[in-house]
Amino acid sequence: MCGIVAAVAQRNVQGILLEGLKRLEYRGYDSSGMTVLNNGSLTRHRALGKVAALAEQLDNAPLPGMSGIAHTRWATHGKPSEANAHPHHSSDQVAVVHNGIIENYEHIKQALQANGYTFTSETDTEVIAHLLADKLNSGLGLFEATQEVVSGLGGAYALGVMSVVEPGVVVGARQGSPLVVGVGIDEAFLASDPLALLQVTDRFIYLEEGDLVEIREQGAIQIVDRDGHQVERPVHTFEHGDGAASKGEYRHYMLKEIFEQPEVISAALEGRLSTNSVLVESFGPEAQVLFQNTRQIHIIACGTSYHAGLVARYWLERYAGVPVQVEVASEYRYRHPVVPDGTLFVTLSQSGETADTLAALRFAKTLHYVGTLAICNVPGSSLVRESDMSLMTHAGPEIGVASTKAFTTQLVALMLLTLSVSKAKGQPERAEIVAALQSLPALCKQVLGLAGQIETLSQAFAEKHHALFLGRGAHYPIALEGALKLKEISYIHAEAYPAGELKHGPLALVDSEMPVISVAPNDDLLEKLKSNLQEVRARGGQLFVFADQAVGINDQDGIRVMKLPHVHEALAPLLYTLPLQLLSYYVAVLKGTDVDQPRNLAKSVTVE
Ligand code: F6R
Repeated sequence: MCGIVAAVAQRNVQGILLEGLKRLEYRGYDSSGMTVLNNGSLTRHRALGKVAALAEQLDNAPLPGMSGIAHTRWATHGKPSEANAHPHHSSDQVAVVHNGIIENYEHIKQALQANGYTFTSETDTEVIAHLLADKLNSGLGLFEATQEVVSGLGGAYALGVMSVVEPGVVVGARQGSPLVVGVGIDEAFLASDPLALLQVTDRFIYLEEGDLVEIREQGAIQIVDRDGHQVERPVHTFEHGDGAASKGEYRHYMLKEIFEQPEVISAALEGRLSTNSVLVESFGPEAQVLFQNTRQIHIIACGTSYHAGLVARYWLERYAGVPVQVEVASEYRYRHPVVPDGTLFVTLSQSGETADTLAALRFAKTLHYVGTLAICNVPGSSLVRESDMSLMTHAGPEIGVASTKAFTTQLVALMLLTLSVSKAKGQPERAEIVAALQSLPALCKQVLGLAGQIETLSQAFAEKHHALFLGRGAHYPIALEGALKLKEISYIHAEAYPAGELKHGPLALVDSEMPVISVAPNDDLLEKLKSNLQEVRARGGQLFVFADQAVGINDQDGIRVMKLPHVHEALAPLLYTLPLQLLSYYVAVLKGTDVDQPRNLAKSVTVE
């Protein structure tokens, strides 16, 4: 999605804004722009494409000034173009950056046009600039003008606005899209994500829905809630060091994040296990009673997080005996779900700001769930703040658009949930799964040691246009996730099927050109899976199998086997995710695609 950065400081803010935009580029990147107040005038650059294009313009013609706003865009209304890039100005008096969608903009635009305002873009955002100019012309200050303007806006927005009328002031507003305040020493900032500001501060205020904020010279910060009352919001210190936001020795963030998995899986487990058992209190003081009374669970998420939910269904039903429904948020939020008594509502999200998941949570709160739990990677995110309970996945910042470590740490959290529900219900302890969890980081390291072999294997895919992924049981969602990763970053069309479904249709696609990737851990479905693989072999399909070293599937004509260390059956979905991530990564590198920022995708999907 779009990203916002704003600064009011005692120094030139151009570099701060530009660095912020670079750090936000993962959210969306079709164009970018910056406006700075200099000697009483608003000066602006906008550029199509990556932030590097804007940086080049700034090199040629710097924008010095001590207050400014900047934006990286992911198009919703109007194609990617310089004219549609933010900031949008109204008669060089007002500048606006916006993340979100203004649903009633057409109606407002017609009214403004009738009053003589001329539009230079196709965006919904430009109406805000003209509305603000209108209010300022009627004598209001910037803060009051913004307050009046947002009261007439429908939809979702995070805003940063500035005006020549009040130099040294930036006003922000948050409704449905994230916005944080960065607290500096005698300076203050706004951004869509704390990552954008880690170069200048590690102290943040997370705005609430409906909040309006004014940042001024000397670092003064004033916040007013949706009812117009001045409020104090707590200042949080950001947990992860700035190093987490750099690529280090790795060629891409995605590769770095894949290799961080042993470490972040340890972090996700830390303090949540005793020798033989899970600590149910990790989910909060009320978790024990709530889980005891939980008779079913609804899990809601999008994309990769949804795949984690699908794995959890197998776990929760098998190891905790609780019926589970898993659904994508964009469908759930518009259904009329039946909520049986004693149902717990669980959301999964890396960002905690995904618009559909957040809307699903808000909808669920109007139904009679026994409680809401968010499993999330971003403390202070909307999903976390609005849920009754939360469990952080501790994956650290994930910059690559394709989710990797956020997914595996979600799986760890979901296994902790499974064990906690089982324990709260008085079921026998699962000491063997707890022990397996503790050995997981070391096993992940071993699997990452196969990277060189997987890189070699990836050559077989570079010229392919299609691929099939097969899995059974809890590995069917892993096949889905493997196919999604390959699609996202290499643009190869990939489909995943439960292996038993092959003969009901997809087998027609299999010929000597079709690569078929399968995950074959040593579980009770192994023999069935082997038969399904024979169906592929018999049609001449090229098989690539990731198999437990003990299962006796070996390289032979038409079958390439990659052997993985033995892992407890319950945790195999976690371990088998890693080689599929690596395969997608190396195929994308071979194809020369933009691995960290694949086309058309955004990291944090804060619009519907
Ligand atoms: C794919 C990916 C997306 C996200 C989805 C939900 O690699 O990352 O499918 O999983 O957009 O995002 P979160 O988890 O932030 O709610």
